[in-house]
Amino acid sequence: MTPLTNGDTMRPAILVTGGAGYIGSHTVITLLEREEEYSNYDIVVVDNLSNAYNRAPNEKKPESLRVIEDLTNKNLHFYPLDIRDAEGLSRVFENHNIDCVIHFAALKAVGESVDKPLEYYQANITGTGTLLEVMRKYGVYKLIYSSSCTVYGEPERLPLDEGHPTGRTLTSPYGRSKYFCEEMMKDLCTSDKNWMVISLRYFNPVGAHISGRIGEDPSGIPNNLMPYIAQVAIGRLNELKVFGNDYKTSDGTGVRDYIHVVDLAEGHVKAIKLFQQHGFGGFHAINLGTGTGYSVLEMISAFERASGRKVPYKIVGRRSGDIAANYADVSLSHRLLGWRAIRTLDDMCKDTWRWQSANPNGFKKV
Ligand code: NAD
Ligand code: UD1
Repeated sequence: MTPLTNGDTMRPAILVTGGAGYIGSHTVITLLEREEEYSNYDIVVVDNLSNAYNRAPNEKKPESLRVIEDLTNKNLHFYPLDIRDAEGLSRVFENHNIDCVIHFAALKAVGESVDKPLEYYQANITGTGTLLEVMRKYGVYKLIYSSSCTVYGEPERLPLDEGHPTGRTLTSPYGRSKYFCEEMMKDLCTSDKNWMVISLRYFNPVGAHISGRIGEDPSGIPNNLMPYIAQVAIGRLNELKVFGNDYKTSDGTGVRDYIHVVDLAEGHVKAIKLFQQHGFGGFHAINLGTGTGYSVLEMISAFERASGRKVPYKIVGRRSGDIAANYADVSLSHRLLGWRAIRTLDDMCKDTWRWQSANPNGFKKV
């Protein structure tokens, strides 16, 4: 295992909030696999385990992080903490020489947020505010924030570029919480020039690590398309309901910009490098997508090809709040980050299937 300290000096560290979750865990493993670039950094994860599986109450690390340590043969630091716990967070900043923060921790179920708005505003907005206060207290001003294409609301034009208005036509407390956090960060950057915030607006992350040992592990019945298709293919669910085939799209079903989660993770690694650029500061929003949209029926066919399994489906009515199509303008990410998504739709489906078929119940082995 790699040593955690370097002589008497504290090594620089990257703090990852929500790092035990789906996108966080793929980013953590991507950082650890970048031997040459980040070998000098400690990776510190804070997660309250509200959406991450722990094998037993006395386990020191959740399953996703245990698997990552096993795959990379490296250690990472883990704190089972809620980001609203300012004292707990302060201890983390005292224990490590935090250089920058990647902030994933949030509640993310759109439907649930409509039923539990206070819980969502508490976790996502109060949580982010607390994290920012603690960062400021310890003089840490570099932040990468997990935002979402949901901040654009109903598209006024496609592809969606970063100049498209945000905050209009948002239909859920979850979407509004992402938008409000961006606004809070913009105000902060205006008030104090020390801050450097990169808000990455993800399109639709899917797929899994190539090992098939970490992946998306939704609790209960999945809300999102790809995990639902995967669970139908493995036989956990009977059939997919396709929400509407009367949209103005090529085949009438909804079109989205699906992006492989490892490409997304690599976008974060590139974003960290921007902090080192001379004169870089303030608030920057950057789309992370592929720039290509696929319909629901195209996703079903691609998954059937990749898995060799049938995915039975039936067409039902539209899901309320859904839009017909969205996909990203990715030119800013190319220009600013020097990054582009390289994994294909086939890779997304094959990697999802590898994870799903090896772990039919996700991280829970039974
Ligand atoms: P996830 O639920 O798998 O991961 C989030 C992690 O944060 C979980 O491990 C959870 O236990 C933890 N967490 C939640 N609230 C916390 C709190 N108050 N304190 C500490 N830890 C907390 O979700 P994900 O899909 O990996 O999403 C990560 C981020 O990306 C979220 O901010 C989400 O809003 C954003 N995002 C996700 C998607 C997507 O489709 N998955 C799309 C756009 C944006
Ligand atoms: C969801 C979130 C959105 C988030 C985005 C990012 C909702 C309502 N919205 O949107 O806030 O930013 O993920 O990942 O959850 N579909 C079906 N049957 C299903 C599931 C989905 O036909 O069982 C269709 C949907 O109608 C849509 C497409 O598949 O056309 C993708 O759906 P989903 O994976 O939920 O993503 P988004 O709708 O983009």
